[in-house]
Formats: sequence, C-alpha cells, structure tokens
Amino acid sequence: MKVGLIGGTGGMGEGFALRWSSRHDVIIGSREVQKAKDAAETYTKVAKESYGNRMTGSITGDENLAVTKSSDILLLSIHYEHIADMCSQLSKQLRDDCIVITPIVPMEKTGAGFVYIPLEQAKKPAAEIVADNLPPRSRIVSAFHTISEARLKNITESLDSDTFVCGDDRNIVSTVNSLISEIAGLRPIFLGPLSISYQAEILTPMLLNSAHRNKIKNPGIRIV
Ligand SMILES: NC(=O)c1ccc[n+]([C@@H]2O[C@H](COP(=O)([O-])OP(=O)(O)OC[C@H]3O[C@@H](n4cnc5c(N)ncnc54)[C@H](OP(=O)(O)O)[C@@H]3O)[C@@H](O)[C@H]2O)c1
Repeated sequence: MKVGLIGGTGGMGEGFALRWSSRHDVIIGSREVQKAKDAAETYTKVAKESYGNRMTGSITGDENLAVTKSSDILLLSIHYEHIADMCSQLSKQLRDDCIVITPIVPMEKTGAGFVYIPLEQAKKPAAEIVADNLPPRSRIVSAFHTISEARLKNITESLDSDTFVCGDDRNIVSTVNSLISEIAGLRPIFLGPLSISYQAEILTPMLLNSAHRNKIKNPGIRIV
C-alpha cells in the first residue's frame, strides 16, 4: 500500500515511516518538497540498516498535496491548530477510496499541566474537524493518540501497548487495524464510532501528566 504522511517530517512521521516502510511504500509529506526528500533519505538509511534485505517497501518524499493524490492511506501527522487549513487544501486531491487516519491530540500545557483543548476552550475534537474538512466522514479513522514518539521511532523495540481506534465504517477500521498490527507489539482496540474519538484523544494529556509527575518515561496504555 502507499501510505502518505502529511507533516511526515515531524517526530511521529519519522516513527511511522520507519515502521511501515518494511512492507509499504511510505511517502513523507511536507510543505517544502526538499525538506520531505531530505527526511525520506535520512529515514531510508535507518530503515535499510535495520531491515536489510527483508525491507520490501520504500520511503520517498514530496509536497503534501502531491502525496495526497497518490496515497491509499493518508495519515495526518500535523497539529490541531493546522487541521482546518491543511485539510481544506488537501480535500480536492484526495482519492475517493483513500482512508484518512488522525492521531491528532488537541492538547496544551497550562499551569495545571497538560489539558484537553476542546474541553477547556469549547472547541471540537480533532477527529470532528478532520471529518468536517475531508468528507465523507466514513473514511476517517482516529488512532495512535497514546503512542510515544520515542518508542515508535526505535524500530528494534516492541511497543507492548494498545491503541484505541474509532471509525464509522467497520471495513475501513479493519484495514487500519491491520496496519496497526504490523507495528511490533501494538494492539488495536476498537472504541466505537468517530463521534467518541474524544475519549481516545483526551487520554493523552492524562497519560503525560501522570507520567511526568511520577517519573515514568515514554508511557503507553494497555487494557488488561
Ligand atoms: N509526539 C508524540 O509523541 C505524539 C503522540 C501521539 C499523537 N501525536 C500527534 O501527532 C501529531 C504530530 O505530532 P508530532 O510530534 O510528530 O509533531 P511535529 O514533530 O511538530 O511535526 C508536525 C509537522 O507539522 C508540519 N507543520 C508545521 N507547521 C504547519 C502548518 N502551519 N501547516 C501545516 N503543517 C505544519 C511540519 O511539517 P513541514 O514543516 O515539513 O510541513 C511538522 O513536521 C500531532 O497532532 C500530535 O498531537 C503526537
């Protein structure tokens, strides 16, 4: 599959590219073509060193709109405040059969610690803003909110974690679950329709506050 990473030059993008390039053609997206190509070159070296001949996928780079045109799966690795602007630019390029994944956590740091922006500022959850700007909502899936960037990037490490998944179309969720399961030690847990994605998004500030105050490094979540 062709997996496009919008904002793929960032920390999470690097982790997804390294993990999925073992089997898929990953395209790093950026607002700047050269930045995307440079990142792709760097990540390719790391992936090849780790996977060697077992690597059947690839990592290339391009501008976000071009990435969108050729992707089977598009993951939005951008921040909450950029969703509306970026998605409205991407919407005309998106293929009808493209699946869109949002790992976006609307979070900021205050004196009390990390807080969930939609609750504090009466704004919409990230998944709802994505759905408003990239219809139809049936193709949107939210996942990966509680995955640690540092652990995702360390491709020799098994994540030994769960990730909650929300989406309205069970076939599309099933495709995303397969992609999640390809990441070593990561288990998809279906939470429900996209309308309750806020329940997954809000876990991240909780996780980071508890980790920070109890000196736990790179935390994750596991349902037992
Ligand atoms: N980091 C984590 O541990 C973690 C865990 C779970 C979920 N998440 C979520 O994953 C998403 C990505 O996080 P990240 O840590 O990878 O972020 P990041 O390192 O800051 O990267 C985000 C990317 O966004 C792009 N960008 C910056 N300004 C932009 C703008 N005005 N418009 C469009 N794109 C812009 C940049 O790419 P270019 O400059 O190349 O365009 C940048 O590489 C966030 O929504 C975050 O909440 C993060």
